[in-house]
Amino acid sequence: MTAPANNDGLMEELVGLCKRRGFIFPSSEIYGGYNGFFDYGPLGVELRNNIKHAWWRDFVQRRDDIEGLDSSIIMHPAIWKASGHVDGFSDPMIDCKESKLRYRADQLFFHPVVLDGESVGYVALVEGAGAAEQIKRAKKLRDLLDRKQSTLDEAQLAGTVEAAEASAEQREQTLGPDATAAGTLTEPREFKLMFETKVGPLADDSATAYLRPETAQGIFANYKNVVDTGRVKIPFGIAQIGKAFRNEITPRNFIFRSREFEQMEIEYFIAPEADWQGLHRQWLDTCIDWLVSIGLPRESITEDVHPQDKLAFYSRATTDLMFHFPHGEQELWGIACRSDYDLNQHQEHSGKSMEIFDEAAKAKYVPHVIEPSLGVDRTLLAILSAAYTEDEVPNDKGKAEKRTLLKFHPRIAPYKAAVFPLLKNKPELVERARALYERLQKRWNVFYDASGAIGRRYRRQDEIGTPFGITIDFDTIEKDGTVTLRDRDSCEQRRLSEDELITFLDEQIDG
Ligand code: GAP
Repeated sequence: MTAPANNDGLMEELVGLCKRRGFIFPSSEIYGGYNGFFDYGPLGVELRNNIKHAWWRDFVQRRDDIEGLDSSIIMHPAIWKASGHVDGFSDPMIDCKESKLRYRADQLFFHPVVLDGESVGYVALVEGAGAAEQIKRAKKLRDLLDRKQSTLDEAQLAGTVEAAEASAEQREQTLGPDATAAGTLTEPREFKLMFETKVGPLADDSATAYLRPETAQGIFANYKNVVDTGRVKIPFGIAQIGKAFRNEITPRNFIFRSREFEQMEIEYFIAPEADWQGLHRQWLDTCIDWLVSIGLPRESITEDVHPQDKLAFYSRATTDLMFHFPHGEQELWGIACRSDYDLNQHQEHSGKSMEIFDEAAKAKYVPHVIEPSLGVDRTLLAILSAAYTEDEVPNDKGKAEKRTLLKFHPRIAPYKAAVFPLLKNKPELVERARALYERLQKRWNVFYDASGAIGRRYRRQDEIGTPFGITIDFDTIEKDGTVTLRDRDSCEQRRLSEDELITFLDEQIDG
């Protein structure tokens, strides 16, 4: 058996496992938590760092055409004016005057309620609410209207009106998702997503600054510095990993949509006349290959091409790589062709030229960009969902036993291997195991465990995704010096010399 068929169940399992084994904790938990924020524990921080390191290694260090950058989180507020975020980075929201709750307009739907063949109003439900919830709310509206004896036409609940499109009259007749009376929902209002702060001693508007909502603008703002100091030539990219902050109205689905998250972004600068469609396709393929290389099944990744009439005016094309998360198929990686919009905006607002001289074409121009933008936290959730597995294996007594394991790719796994002396009260075994552990520790993050039955020790490592178990037994000491290597997924065991073991781990982890 692989992951449970019920995906809501899978999300619950993941949240539980992450807390229990020290991957992810709710932020500020001792004060009751803080919605939209998370803390990464000892295993989570390793997993996170391994994802970032793999991305950096493959997209920056192993490529000749991409340079790295680490810009500040708080930048001159003029950057966000130029980029359009100050005026435009908002979501339309609907408030409930009774419950004081706020909903994203694009996630709220009004379902008509029909009693005895007569349309009597609507129930508003958040996207994804189940049929049972719809019927419950429709019955609540029936009670409110004092028509307990009327027959509810359940089929009519299927029809929907998007909340953002609803008329004032329809809103008046609508029972909000958390309201006890109809007519409490407001019309949609724009809600700013950027977190504001004050810089310096003044508390007035001139001191207002923003926590960046994307790392991309730090790249555009430094593009000239990189061009002037590096040896880049078109096409080339600038890559950055860093925190981003958005005052998301409905942070949800664990770490999928949070208020503080991390992005791995590339701005890839190309000539205005370049074959941007071809380059866009190349980037999509490169990104899919990379996701597969760190352990995501290719069949769980699909492409969502944004329709031309829904694109931002400066965008030529956007395709999202979608992943089958436990809560459904959702965006993992956005790959956009953003034209020369951002650089032109910064050129206009800063008065500094953003042109580059293209030696090959003997031409000067403001380049266009292709932007692959990926969230670290979403990648981590995708990896956890894909890795989570339940199966049955024989225990120490040969009886079938249920186990939970995380099938992390060795490159991404928090611990690469665990070293076990067969028995903890045999100093010669312990000494040899400690020596091997310390040798491996020089290169990789490895774990040492001497306590409990060997089967238990394997199981503990399976649950946190350690791909290899290495056991030192009497044969190691008395015979040929070989150790037992156990594979997490197949549970198969074989004997190797220590040098063979290191060559094997090297291939598996570092490729
Ligand atoms: N510079 C382009 C940009 O920021 P985006 O689609 O808004 O584009 C890019 O974000 C990626 O960042 C998303 O595909 C997702 O992986 C991640 N991301 C965005 N908002 C997020 C949030 N609230 N929580 C976690 N990850 C988020």
